[in-house]
Amino acid sequence: MSAQLFSPLTLREVTFRNRIFVAPMCQYSAVDGLPNHWHLVHLGSRAVGGAALVIAEATAVRDVGRISDADLGIWNEEQVEAFRPITSFIKDQGAIAGIQLAHAGRKGSTKIPWLGHGKMEAGGWTPVGPGDTPFSASYPIPRELSASEIEEVVNDFVSAANRARAAGFQVVEIHMAHGYLLHEFLSPISNLRKDAYGGTLDNRMRLPLKVASAVRDVWPAEWPVFVRISATDWTEGGWDVEQSIVLARKLKAVGIDMIDCSSGGNVERATIPLAPGYQVSFASRIRKEADIATSAVGLITSAKQAEAILENGEADAISMARQLLRDPYFPMHAAKELGAEVHWPNQYLRAK
Ligand code: FNR
Repeated sequence: MSAQLFSPLTLREVTFRNRIFVAPMCQYSAVDGLPNHWHLVHLGSRAVGGAALVIAEATAVRDVGRISDADLGIWNEEQVEAFRPITSFIKDQGAIAGIQLAHAGRKGSTKIPWLGHGKMEAGGWTPVGPGDTPFSASYPIPRELSASEIEEVVNDFVSAANRARAAGFQVVEIHMAHGYLLHEFLSPISNLRKDAYGGTLDNRMRLPLKVASAVRDVWPAEWPVFVRISATDWTEGGWDVEQSIVLARKLKAVGIDMIDCSSGGNVERATIPLAPGYQVSFASRIRKEADIATSAVGLITSAKQAEAILENGEADAISMARQLLRDPYFPMHAAKELGAEVHWPNQYLRAK
């Protein structure tokens, strides 16, 4: 049988040339939220390398929703213009351009990682969250969002989706993972609200589902919308896979096309059983129990491992991050190993 990893996948009217997706990866290299040459080369080279979908990093829907002041943003027209050459280049390589729309919530206003994560020095801003409890002692104290400000968050995601379309993206992924704003609302650990947005599971899902539904409404019907979740907080009494399955069913009902299944990020000292493919079981359960397409992510590093996940029916696509940093040409190497064909740019054919 031919390799599943190199079989095309169609969601709505978008066909991905294979099942290798570039996971969103913050580059902490923007000024004023604007993409620059770094982002063009970083995202562009992974499209050249043969991946089917290249998802631009967590891109803030509003300035206060950035993790750091070096994050990408999509809250103004200048940013839209700056993204255009990037999406155009990705498309020219036969890949699909995607963008992760994000709001960092209480994990915003931090330093960039190579300057040491955590609190920002003077010049930072006050982040917002479901409440006023910080992520940890080394993070800034957030300001609690009011009910009317929560409605603004929905509008920010909608405006960002409209801008993403204008910028040339064909896939949007809503970031509901890793302890950022929408995950903060989902998890009973970070959401202690007493109003309609906190307490019961339905209440905690209210904002994330409003965002998903509103973004789906404005995104072209022929193009897919993904959601990235943290399937578990890896902490007793926190968000877990059972709640993720309920959420995934509701996301499917509002028209979401794929769940990208990550985990963690909402609890500083969670014990995470890191091992190859440690999050694959989440993609597998959500795929089966919520009957929705999933992508598996996390310590998937080899062609054979990726192929086995697809052959076992555990996911529809493989999302990869660090392996594609180490090797932007991983799809070309994987195709050779699995005896499959992958697109090579004409300019590189003499090396095939
Ligand atoms: C990440 N990750 C990440 N996740 C996300 O949802 N949005 C983001 O912007 C980022 N940023 C980011 C930057 C860098 C440099 C890395 C290495 C990772 C997480 C990433 O998408 C992925 O889920 C994990 O890295 C696990 O997959 P791998 O690296 O084991 O394939």
